[in-house]
Amino acid sequence: MNDRLLKACRLEETDKKPVWLMRQAGRYLPEYRKLRRDRDLLSLCKDTEAAAELTALPVLKFGVDAAILFADIALPLEGLGVPFRMVDGEGPVVEKPVRDEWGVKNIREFDSSRVNYVYETIRLARSILNDRVPIIGFAGGPFTIACYIVGDVGSRDFPLARSLIHMKPRLWRELMEILTMAMAQYSKAQVEAGARVFQIFDSWAGSLSPLDYEESVLPYVKALVDEIRGRGVPVIYFTTCSAGMLELLRRTGANVIGIDWRVDIGRAWRSIGFDVGIQGNLDPAVLLGDRDSIVLRAGQIMEATRDRPGHIFNLGHGVLPETPPENVAALVEFVHGYEEDGVEH
Ligand code: CP3
Repeated sequence: MNDRLLKACRLEETDKKPVWLMRQAGRYLPEYRKLRRDRDLLSLCKDTEAAAELTALPVLKFGVDAAILFADIALPLEGLGVPFRMVDGEGPVVEKPVRDEWGVKNIREFDSSRVNYVYETIRLARSILNDRVPIIGFAGGPFTIACYIVGDVGSRDFPLARSLIHMKPRLWRELMEILTMAMAQYSKAQVEAGARVFQIFDSWAGSLSPLDYEESVLPYVKALVDEIRGRGVPVIYFTTCSAGMLELLRRTGANVIGIDWRVDIGRAWRSIGFDVGIQGNLDPAVLLGDRDSIVLRAGQIMEATRDRPGHIFNLGHGVLPETPPENVAALVEFVHGYEEDGVEH
């Protein structure tokens, strides 16, 4: 097994820097578009053979150091009895947004068996990959899932979820508890199916004020992280727009903190602390440029993180659909070929 990712999570030295990309199996790949052509994302996720093939594809095609489970953060909503549909370009939209006591009462206890196909995808992907690289399991963070549950669509700063914290503080805590418990069970089943690393996508938590994050979200994230780490699986905690709360992210207890491109990675790592790993943070837009700009910007990240174990190379957010696949290949090749003397080999 290529264990660069696991080693970086433990802050151990690696022969080459581990690299994988968020949304590495998405719309920029012709193979993905072909599999997705005549059905929606949800049916694609439920076709476990296709989902496993997509999980393995970027490893076989580009030689990335990890496979991420092909699924979506909205899938466990099915296990909670919260129906939703996937809207193109928008993401998950729940049928009946949950905003009051009645709505929360109607959320069912998490029925893990409703998402058995997710666990099956992990098992199938493992056998395709023959354990060549670790498979990253994932779930949404409780705040980010709450953004979808309350129906905060159409806005990138999630006013409904942010205001619920203040309008109905007791209800908010109840919702966070339900989601934390559900994600704990969901992650446990993924680990049992063979996920070796776990990423919590709390993509929208950076829309919160640091105080609201600290008081109304962080305790639940920490509980979830503790639970997963307790099973011996390293945790990567990813948010965007987190420059104003880097010190707080450290308190999640995650092994590695994932950051977006809006912050200097050297400064971010210093603020979080060098005893925690860091993941990121190339602007996905750079992959729309030519090879020289990719090498320039990726090189600057390599330089800013040199001589220190614990950096996982990634983008600051998902691969953009317009990205030429050959640019992903060029990036992976550059990161793996980079020698710490700064010379490309
Ligand atoms: O990274 C991977 O390659 C694995 C697959 C994966 C998907 N979604 C498939 C997907 C992962 C890890 C996710 C996580 C996810 N889903 C997040 C957290 C990461 C992030 O992007 O911040 C969030 C917020 C979602 C919810 C979601 N799903 C949104 C907002 C959207 C629409 C925006 C977009 O990128 O189109 C989706 C759709 C989605 N999930 C696609 C894929 C491949 C595009 C589907 C398509 O239209 O074919």
